[in-house]
Amino acid sequence: MQDFAFYALGGREQMEKLEKQIKITDTTFRDAHQSLLATRMKIEDMLPIAEKMDSIGFHSMEVWGGATFDSCMRFLNEDPWERLRLLRKSIKKTKLQMLLRGQNLVGYRHYADDVVEEFIKKAISNGIDILRIFDALNDVRNMEKAMAVTKREGGHAQATISYTISSFHDMNYYMKLSQTLKDMGADSICIKDMAGLITPVMAYELVKNLKEKIQLPVQLHCHYTSGMAAMSYLKAAEAGVDVIDCAISTMANATSQPADETMVATFENTAYETGLNLEKLSEIAEYFKVIRCKYKQFDAADGTVDVNVLRYQIPGGMISNFISQLQQANALDKLPLVLEEVPRVRADFGYPPLVTPSSQIIGSQAALNILAGDRYKMVTNEVKNYMKGLYGQPPAPINEEVRKKIIGEEAPITGRPADYLPPQMEEAKKEIAFYAESEEDVLSYVLFPLVAKKFLEERLSSKTNVDYTLVGGDGSKSIIYPV
Ligand code: CO
Repeated sequence: MQDFAFYALGGREQMEKLEKQIKITDTTFRDAHQSLLATRMKIEDMLPIAEKMDSIGFHSMEVWGGATFDSCMRFLNEDPWERLRLLRKSIKKTKLQMLLRGQNLVGYRHYADDVVEEFIKKAISNGIDILRIFDALNDVRNMEKAMAVTKREGGHAQATISYTISSFHDMNYYMKLSQTLKDMGADSICIKDMAGLITPVMAYELVKNLKEKIQLPVQLHCHYTSGMAAMSYLKAAEAGVDVIDCAISTMANATSQPADETMVATFENTAYETGLNLEKLSEIAEYFKVIRCKYKQFDAADGTVDVNVLRYQIPGGMISNFISQLQQANALDKLPLVLEEVPRVRADFGYPPLVTPSSQIIGSQAALNILAGDRYKMVTNEVKNYMKGLYGQPPAPINEEVRKKIIGEEAPITGRPADYLPPQMEEAKKEIAFYAESEEDVLSYVLFPLVAKKFLEERLSSKTNVDYTLVGGDGSKSIIYPV
């Protein structure tokens, strides 16, 4: 049928149309609820609609990784691996995509290479097709292991540029970074605009340069936070972007992605036509309208544009963190001072993009600087590690005076951070042997020891009606106290 249409419409015309066609990755099951509902959506609310979403014809569905892994065990009493397997069972046609924080995987610190190796193997064998791999500092050394394993295991390695604005982040910087990622074997490039900072004009320029100079498929990931994202998608389409990230309308906009339906309608009857069906999408939107009400207590979006993103270039999530941190210290009136302190701390730290975990590191330090009334008098452990080079190399030089104030004369490491980490898997296997039923369980434990142990203990207790939470932490089977 397609061949017939091809000739009927005139080969060249049709070829051009296919070349320009915009594809959509739907993020409803990952980023959308992470951004809007504190990552609380349960699998039971995904499965009833999963097959219908599979039938839409999305380029891919982002369903795993980011904060969802942690959240499954910490808040939802769900096994993140089981979630992935269930989604894979329902979503048979569409590629499944995940977000991976480079050497941080789905956690908040670097893990040893053997953990990265095993985690990616299992992610792919349990159903993931595309891994979007990023590093908060754009330090490619933190991405190289993950990219190599992904490729070896037959996954699609989507290398990511974490987009940010500073005098160091010019076109030259982004092109050099992208070329390095291509040389490392990237199958495609993602521009990750986690704060919603990219302007339509910048999106156009960046995509155009990437398409011309790097010549890999380009995917644009924006958050609607500042209100510019849908315009940026349109301009990116004009520059030849291949894929854009959207969420179903009732889970879109605000701090989430632009709506699937908005972009489908925008491109209808143009060369960029997505080919997706608005009627079918609206049925899915209806479903999530109802589901979203169930999570009202976590629903952070007030539906408006967040001007603080434009004023301070701070992602939406950071500001809500500040509010709770300052409330605890009974100093909410200091919020404007903290917001102004963020860019200064960021400059001292070598202009890292603000994304997990750098956003947390910079954010809490900015708050401490203001609360203590003296800059860097109080510092967190993460800040010390950052200054020691344990997170990698930031895009610009660190303020040496500040570094000295924080770690004294200690020399920071200069090598790849993970080279300083001994293997972790064997030890972990022993520690969690009693509770772990699979290699996947061991990985959950390595990533989040306390949270995973509690989760696995409870799982075993509920299966056997025996309270195993009192068993010694050494994994010994000899002492069991039934309730
Ligand atoms: Co995002």
